[in-house]
Amino acid sequence: MRLTRRKIMGAAMAASIVASAPAFAAKPLTIGFSQVGAESEWRTANTASIKDAARKAGVNLKFADAQQRQENQVKAIRSFIAQRVDVIAFSPVVESGWDTVLREAKAAKIPVILSDRAVKVSDPSLYVTFIGSDFVEEGRRAARWLVEHAKKNPNRSYNIVELQGTVGSAPALDRKAGFAEVIAGNPKFKIIRSQTGDFTRAKGKEVMEAFLKSEGKNINVLYAHNDDMAIGAIQAIEEAGLKPGKDILVVSIDGVRGAFEAMLQGKLNVTVECNPLIGPQLIQLAQQVKAGKPVPKRVTVNEGVFPAEVAAKEFPNRKY
Ligand code: AHR
Repeated sequence: MRLTRRKIMGAAMAASIVASAPAFAAKPLTIGFSQVGAESEWRTANTASIKDAARKAGVNLKFADAQQRQENQVKAIRSFIAQRVDVIAFSPVVESGWDTVLREAKAAKIPVILSDRAVKVSDPSLYVTFIGSDFVEEGRRAARWLVEHAKKNPNRSYNIVELQGTVGSAPALDRKAGFAEVIAGNPKFKIIRSQTGDFTRAKGKEVMEAFLKSEGKNINVLYAHNDDMAIGAIQAIEEAGLKPGKDILVVSIDGVRGAFEAMLQGKLNVTVECNPLIGPQLIQLAQQVKAGKPVPKRVTVNEGVFPAEVAAKEFPNRKY
């Protein structure tokens, strides 16, 4: 067979097409993620975990910070729908008010994953799966520590002030409920004041100052729904001339470095762990969902309780 000049050119072109095959490789997964904000040490670690996991998995992550506002999250989700991302994931600032926008995502056939916080929706098929902590159990664990601690002083009664998280958010509602469930019917424990500190140090300090002004030495326990508010409140307690961790027991949730540092200084008594490092699992779930693989409706993470007595030993192992 004679090879004409045209045939040789054709073969060369075909070879060059094969060589540039990566141009036809599978498109990377695109995830639109709407984060609550940057309100706490926990949140910073959560954001870093998600970005890092996405980068390592070669995922194209479109990240939007909602600055603690639901309307910003709704806007971000609508923009992800318009951009036709493969999967939408978000950490809902509050629990309710999501039906409409999630229906829009469903109509556009874009699966939704809830990260860290749950939602209350009329139709559970509006999201595919949830990954995060059991916040009710965290509240129970905080109260159980207090009940155990109180056994050392059987005649003492406990006047508790509570710093709640963001109003309407799943962790604030659930941590309040879990704690209340454990102390219910026990006359030794009384929540004398309860107000939101919005999960921030500044607000935690401000609200604790107000509690101290109105209740003074009547307070002997602070229960904070997160470590950042506890750390802010510790400052307020010290400025009021009292000793956090001694005059006022400090019980909080998250297990961030700042809480361990406070425990090492004897200013915080216990932190209940809430693990923010869920990025790798979130990305894996998104990949499975995109591939049409079945995923569980709820994925929860294993967590511990760290009282001040174990802080020195545990501190070097902390990853956030
Ligand atoms: O949703 C998790 C909570 O949100 C964390 O406990 C808190 O620190 C954060 O802001």
